[in-house]
Amino acid sequence: MNENIVNFVYLIAGVLFILGIKGLTKPKTAVRGNMLSALGMLIAVVVTLLNMNTIDYSYIVAGVLVGSIVGSIMALRIQMTSMPQMVALLNGFGGGASLTIALAEYYTKLGTTPASFAELLNPVVADSAAFGAGPEGTVALLAIGLTVLIGALTLTGSLVAFAKLQELMKKSYGLPGGPIGNALFLIAALVAVALVVVNPGNVAAMVAVVALALLLGLFLVMPIGGADMPVVIALLNSYSGIAAALAGFILGNTVLIIAGSLVGTSGLILTRIMCVAMNRSLANVLFGKMAAGGETIDADEVYAGKVTSAQPDEVAMLLETAQRVVIVPGYGMAMAQAQHAVRELADAMEAKGVEVEYGIHPVAGRMPGHMNVLLAEAEVPYDNLVEMDRINPTFEDTDVVIVIGANDVTNPMARDVEGSPIYGMPILNVDKAKTVVVIKRSLSPGFAGLPNPLFAMDHTLMVYGDGKKAVVEMTTALNQA
Ligand code: TAP
Repeated sequence: MNENIVNFVYLIAGVLFILGIKGLTKPKTAVRGNMLSALGMLIAVVVTLLNMNTIDYSYIVAGVLVGSIVGSIMALRIQMTSMPQMVALLNGFGGGASLTIALAEYYTKLGTTPASFAELLNPVVADSAAFGAGPEGTVALLAIGLTVLIGALTLTGSLVAFAKLQELMKKSYGLPGGPIGNALFLIAALVAVALVVVNPGNVAAMVAVVALALLLGLFLVMPIGGADMPVVIALLNSYSGIAAALAGFILGNTVLIIAGSLVGTSGLILTRIMCVAMNRSLANVLFGKMAAGGETIDADEVYAGKVTSAQPDEVAMLLETAQRVVIVPGYGMAMAQAQHAVRELADAMEAKGVEVEYGIHPVAGRMPGHMNVLLAEAEVPYDNLVEMDRINPTFEDTDVVIVIGANDVTNPMARDVEGSPIYGMPILNVDKAKTVVVIKRSLSPGFAGLPNPLFAMDHTLMVYGDGKKAVVEMTTALNQA
């Protein structure tokens, strides 16, 4: 196929990716954005295949079939609350794909086809020129080495992130040296990459890169617990993009470079947004120095004798006389699937002349935009969803805040208690409102494992029960009032 045509089609695919990402920035255009990006990828893949002269389509068809079946089953069966695990797994697959592309390219250029794992280590008298002459060869080898490193690290790191979010791995382990141990591992892996660049026939060094990077991925993510996991997922997402972009350099495929760079940079931007929302610096995330759980804070001390509970019909009486109510949803709303019930409660309040808005914390729930997606599904007008920075100054003029299944994102310890594991994390200042109603099943902690002094405040009423049931009962009582 004519190179110019191929590059032109790649350009169109690149534009579709960018338009797709732009569409994803707003709920209204998100589905269309997703379709545009998918179309771009389809076009890119088809043209790449047509452009390859000698190719055995039977493997490709088999791969497409198996991948489509597995992917469709996963997508159809996945619960909204398990989406972060799914993203973690897909990041890992992306890293693994780049790793295998780089290794295949390495062994092909070396001119060896190892028939067994043992043969992977056979020394080879390499012709450096096979990777390109002079600086070109050095760059090609560097791209291969770095793709292997980042791809392998992303693969195991993402698998650990999956296991942690799926609660298959509950304990946190790490290297004895912590961040220093990780840094030493990284340096060793980079030295091994350098050895490969200097002497491409040094297959032992290449195998060392793979082994060190696989272990580094494990050690980087295993010590991370609690509230920092979303940052890690966003970062791994970025790594998988960087690995794909580097694989694009190896294959000389422009569209893979574009797609990988877009994933790499958007992942980094998301990482930055998450870091700010969770008060972690990127350096802390990169070196695996994360906040541990808050097991040391005694819940009894925070709650004993200070918690006031209420029934849904008592809350309905409060709502009836309120002028302004803010609803703050969290992970528990997702668990209870209460979004439609919440919207009906808001409708009932609005019918009585109450001004209703929703306060949305950037990391409420278990994935970026989790609350926005759920509330959009219940057709809550997007303009009523107010971001943290804009809603916070309004709490002082709010009569009632209804916190439904949110916990960490409202915990005043993050603001007031220096030394608390979540100190510095921006929160929704719901405690500034005149009355706070918290709907949850018990006084159990949220994701960060910390007690929440909000529940023990004088102006807080705890409504114990499943989120959906409690909200439905409030709506019924309000409609009857
Ligand atoms: P959490 O702090 O996790 O609290 C959720 C609360 O929901 C729990 O305390 C639980 O209390 C309650 N709950 C569970 N099921 C319920 C049900 N059926 N009905 C009513 N309540 C129910 O949630 P949050 O405030 O949304 O904070 C999110 C946390 O997750 C943050 O720490 C954040 O860092 C972390 N995180 C966020 C993300 C992203 S990107 N959003 C990803 C991973 C982790 P009971 O058991 O007493 O009912």
